[in-house]
Amino acid sequence: MTIMITGATGQLGKLVIEQLSEQVPAAQIIAGVRHPDKAMQFKEKGIELRLVDYDRPETLQEAFAGVNKLLLISSSHTDDDVRLVQHKRVIDAAKAAGVAHILYTSFAFPQAGHKGTSSVHGQTEQAILDTRMDYTILRNGLYIDFVGVLGLNEAIRSGVLTTLPGDWQFNAVTRSDLARATAKVLAGSGHEHRTYELAAPQTWTFTELAEVLTELAGKPVVHTSDASVQHWIYHFLSSIDTKSTSNDLEQLMGQPVTPLKESIAPFLNLENV
Ligand SMILES: NC(=O)c1ccc[n+]([C@@H]2O[C@H](COP(=O)([O-])OP(=O)(O)OC[C@H]3O[C@@H](n4cnc5c(N)ncnc54)[C@H](OP(=O)(O)O)[C@@H]3O)[C@@H](O)[C@H]2O)c1
Repeated sequence: MTIMITGATGQLGKLVIEQLSEQVPAAQIIAGVRHPDKAMQFKEKGIELRLVDYDRPETLQEAFAGVNKLLLISSSHTDDDVRLVQHKRVIDAAKAAGVAHILYTSFAFPQAGHKGTSSVHGQTEQAILDTRMDYTILRNGLYIDFVGVLGLNEAIRSGVLTTLPGDWQFNAVTRSDLARATAKVLAGSGHEHRTYELAAPQTWTFTELAEVLTELAGKPVVHTSDASVQHWIYHFLSSIDTKSTSNDLEQLMGQPVTPLKESIAPFLNLENV
């Protein structure tokens, strides 16, 4: 059984390989990378490196030779039209190379979001279904990292977390939890033709976020909203479904998701606030 992870030098890819290495021998893992110089830590562990550049179709079919399971980590390109072309290249090359099972990191709850099936993720999912290969769609929830632009350190300094008014609720998750579940799927069996919604089993609100900040900072932080708050993040958050929940992530991980307090700690600079 040979398992390849594309985008292996990215933040999610590295975590998936780390988790997968605990479950299968390194000789069964192949890291698909576009910059091999960034991937020496894999080589040192006995993990094979292969050149996989979504922009260079000539690298793909050769890279996928002999691969049984291929995890396509969605491209980080900022233009969705380009991402779709890149994903389709990977899917076509996987089919041509005889990959048995393709897995794709999509985005959670597309049917309820504004973009739905017309999004790059919806179209990539369809392109995978059209190949009639075995597939698993891993619809990743919103990364918790978005809290990094909410001014949490300033909120601790001032004692007030100010956000845009609205009925905000978040099913956000950590990459580590996503990687743990993804590695279980890659190493396990019985996940063919399944679509998982890898979001949190319960949501949290900005008021709850302020309570957690209070606990972490050891001083009161209250939540307030102000219609004059301006940040692109709110436009993005209102374009996706951050409210729906799922047990898929916890079930695949076999353990609870990382609590909010622990999840946001890396985004705080408690010594300097
Ligand atoms: N669920 C969410 O909230 C959320 C948020 C942001 C992004 N995402 C999606 O999740 C994906 C993984 O997240 P991440 O945090 O691991 O992102 P990341 O750290 O930016 O990693 C992206 C990976 O994609 C690789 N890549 C980009 N263009 C490529 C190309 N043309 N050919 C081959 N590989 C290419 C990068 O290679 P290099 O290492 O060589 O740069 C990198 O390894 C992102 O790419 C994005 O599609 C999801």
